[in-house]
Amino acid sequence: MIKFDKVTKIYPSNTAVLKDVTFEIKEGEFVSIIGKSGAGKTTLTRLILGLEEPTYGEVYFKEKNMLVADASEIQKIRRSIGGIYQDYKLLPAKTVYENVSYVLEVKGTAQGEIKKEVEKVLDLIGLKDKKDNFPKELSGGEQQRLAIARALVIHPKIIIADEPTGNLDPYNTYEVIYLLEKINKAGATVILLTHNREIINKLGKRVITLVGGRIIRDEAEGRFII
Ligand SMILES: Nc1ncnc2c1ncn2[C@@H]1O[C@H](COP(=O)(O)OP(=O)(O)O)[C@@H](O)[C@H]1O
Ligand SMILES: [Mg+2]
Repeated sequence: MIKFDKVTKIYPSNTAVLKDVTFEIKEGEFVSIIGKSGAGKTTLTRLILGLEEPTYGEVYFKEKNMLVADASEIQKIRRSIGGIYQDYKLLPAKTVYENVSYVLEVKGTAQGEIKKEVEKVLDLIGLKDKKDNFPKELSGGEQQRLAIARALVIHPKIIIADEPTGNLDPYNTYEVIYLLEKINKAGATVILLTHNREIINKLGKRVITLVGGRIIRDEAEGRFII
């Protein structure tokens, strides 16, 4: 589904951030990509989303080389991916309900359908009772659950979660990881980028370890060892 073939990324006026990175993620997998801050995790995310181009090597999305994909194809790929980030990326002037419904409005979904879909996803993530609240009235954990609702409402085949628990306490961290596991069990491919040792060691899933921009380990039931 996603393939990196000898990808090296060098930003202008910088040394290589990713070096000769090769891996493949299959449909339905739950893969964690771990590494310290600065290891190149967000750069890797941006390459998958087509927001950056590799300096050397190729990135494939469903067999399609991102380098030859045109703007509308990249747009389509981006829309099929649910993104979850450390800083939530919520719309502060919109309510919980509107934060989710807006995602579908942009896509041009019919009104009746929007209501049904938004209610379903708010129920799933446990924010139905707060649907008229604004983001600033939510706890950190609730804000991240809302961000997950926004990612899920488009029924993405792939979820990319870049440090989704970076601002959360241990309890809310597990809530988020539990949700990601549930989404994966329902069929979505999940890519989790993190430097959180404990969640990785509890997950018991595939782990790709990045050190200084290189993959030093890729194990089916990996642990956090750096
Ligand atoms: N747009 C950019 N231009 C120049 N350097 C960048 C840019 N984005 C990230 N970097 C550098 O690349 C390295 C890896 O960053 P990043 O991919 O954000 O790592 P991580 O997400 O693992 O913390 C860092 O040294 C960072 O300063
Ligand atoms: Mg990062």
